[in-house]
Amino acid sequence: MRTPIMAGNWKMNCDNDEAWELAAAIADEKGDVEGCEVVLCPPATALTTVLAAIEDTNIGLGAQNIFWEESGAYTGELSGPMLLSCGCQYVIIGHSERRGRFGSADEDFTPELQQVFGDTDASVNRKLPAALSHGLLPIVCVGELLSERQEGQTDEVVSGQVTAALTGLEASEVDWVILAYEPVWAIGTGEVCEAEEANRVIGVIRATLAEVVGGEVAERVRILYGGSVNPANVEGLMEQSEIDGGLVGGASLQAESFCELIAAAAASK
Ligand code: 13P
Repeated sequence: MRTPIMAGNWKMNCDNDEAWELAAAIADEKGDVEGCEVVLCPPATALTTVLAAIEDTNIGLGAQNIFWEESGAYTGELSGPMLLSCGCQYVIIGHSERRGRFGSADEDFTPELQQVFGDTDASVNRKLPAALSHGLLPIVCVGELLSERQEGQTDEVVSGQVTAALTGLEASEVDWVILAYEPVWAIGTGEVCEAEEANRVIGVIRATLAEVVGGEVAERVRILYGGSVNPANVEGLMEQSEIDGGLVGGASLQAESFCELIAAAAASK
């Protein structure tokens, strides 16, 4: 039995006043939530604000990125100990918006892909053990581009990303990992992946996991769906056998819609 997760990825939204207001409204409504892990992932500047707003509730705090070193000359980066000191329990790793296209040798900056910050399978694979070694639960994102889907490469792309992300980890470590299937073409576009198709791809991811770490761990790992999740489609997604929750952008920025998603996830299993 896998406990569902509903995680809000606020991306680069909310100053501290807005973050307080949003987190406090969610805490007010769903602070005593049961049957579902709720995670708020505000921008790093608002982590401690949100922590204060969700104090003494069942809601958890997550960061949107981590660097693998603990400290040093890494301008702009945040380490595991720093995130822990802000009260984080979760961290998103390898979100498609952080994976890299910008400045790569063979491709110009392509804003429509929303992939700009240079993460690769290799950097994701270094960030993952860094998160685990500090006791942070990693939410590792994988997903295909529209062009890859159109060329029939979806399964190959996502299983390749999963295998690369987990390389070198023990099965006992993978037990703590949360995965998120986020087809890039469905992120922020309003175009949700059909629930049955999302379920199918997540099944492929679970089968990949089983090959890498064995079926027992694969059955325990939570795999979320992300990409235009909203109150109108959440039930159809959550009723799928392989989908263990959502990683939500836009609809997590309004307390009312995010609380509806939480309710659907908590009621689903
Ligand atoms: P949207 O829900 O806005 O499509 O964003 C999904 C996402 O990228 C969550 O990490």
